[in-house]
Amino acid sequence: MMRTRPLKVALLGCGVVGSEVARIMTTHADDLAARIGAPVELAGVAVRRPSKVREGIDPALITTDATALLKRGDIDVAIEVIGGIEPARTLITTAFENGISVVSANKALLAQDGAALHAAADAHGRDLYYEAAVAGAIPLVRPMRESLAGDKINRVMGIVNGTTNFILDKMDSTGAGYQEALDEATALGYAEADPTADVEGYDAAAKAAILAGIAFHTRVHLDDVYREGMTEVSAADFASAKRMGCTIKLLAILERAADGQSVTARVHPAMIPLSHPLASVREAYNAVFVEAEAAGRLMFYGPGAGGSPTASAVLGDLVAVCRNKLAEVTGPGESAYTRLPVSTMGEVVTRYHISLDVADKPGVLAQVATTFAEHGVSIDTVRQQGRPDGVGNEASLVVVTHRAPDAALSGTVEALRKLDTVRGVASIMRVEGE
Ligand code: HSE
Repeated sequence: MMRTRPLKVALLGCGVVGSEVARIMTTHADDLAARIGAPVELAGVAVRRPSKVREGIDPALITTDATALLKRGDIDVAIEVIGGIEPARTLITTAFENGISVVSANKALLAQDGAALHAAADAHGRDLYYEAAVAGAIPLVRPMRESLAGDKINRVMGIVNGTTNFILDKMDSTGAGYQEALDEATALGYAEADPTADVEGYDAAAKAAILAGIAFHTRVHLDDVYREGMTEVSAADFASAKRMGCTIKLLAILERAADGQSVTARVHPAMIPLSHPLASVREAYNAVFVEAEAAGRLMFYGPGAGGSPTASAVLGDLVAVCRNKLAEVTGPGESAYTRLPVSTMGEVVTRYHISLDVADKPGVLAQVATTFAEHGVSIDTVRQQGRPDGVGNEASLVVVTHRAPDAALSGTVEALRKLDTVRGVASIMRVEGE
């Protein structure tokens, strides 16, 4: 039975995503009403610049006073697509205090203040949904929070930033250097004028924190996520990766420790074998590979950004939250009952690919091998070749290790740098997905 009184929606922010949400709410109004069981009405749109022309949006709905919109007493659901910490945080809290459920696409805020926001939603008996905060259109938060709720997720490895995947894919396919690939990404609109949040891994780290909390039913704050950007990845690294049958991706990796007593969350560039499903994720696409005890290996793939794909995720949440409202229930809130500690990067165990510039004389290989042994890092393969730049009496040494703790590898590298025969450590790259 269709309720005739509409559910009223406040849209907070009307940029690339918000304008698409408004457009789809209008053009698909009948379908949305049929799926929800009541019409949904865009009741107000809070913006910073009211004079901007917004096609398809009734100018009477536009306001600069988001707080008054939330407090006026008739709003059922607020959609927050402003981004950033403030005023989004205060507005979401105001929404809950006024009995309004929230759909948000705000990864930075959820990674930083997710626990407090969930608590506020809970205290007021309202929903907080945020499918769009991680990997755009890809259904991921809800499958992990609901479909996999009966399983045990042990590992999540994902490409959750499209800009950096585009850059790395260009470097891989054309042999370009980082700057050249970044310039192309900027020219095509994939990278912002200031690409720091993407290329330094901040955007991916926020998504990693959100996914780790959901995957392991624990609290993972943005500060718990180890982060390394991809600006140092070079054409030479790709050449090395190719020789190993690998490519390089910026990965978010979330792992439950073997003893199940702790978790780790990290973002960094890594080599992965070409045979791994994530290796074939090209251009600006995102993909997340989930390993669960009963389900086995699952991969979620699709567009991770952009107005329309992100609006799709927002609208899916809107339908769910509206259905909950009509049924007078709330959906799943925060699940953090395991309270697992988040270990430091030093405790992460993985494999490493290290390129060294060394003197080409007797005993150097033995000296390098001894340094690895002294730090408990076992070598898998070593390859030596003349320096590509033709420097005489010098060679490049590429060492690939077996699995070792990150702290042991750092100690090894520190000691290698002190050897007279080691002219420099050209690159250190983790090897994942084997
Ligand atoms: N800048 C992000 C990306 C999209 O490149 O994937 C929003 O998180």
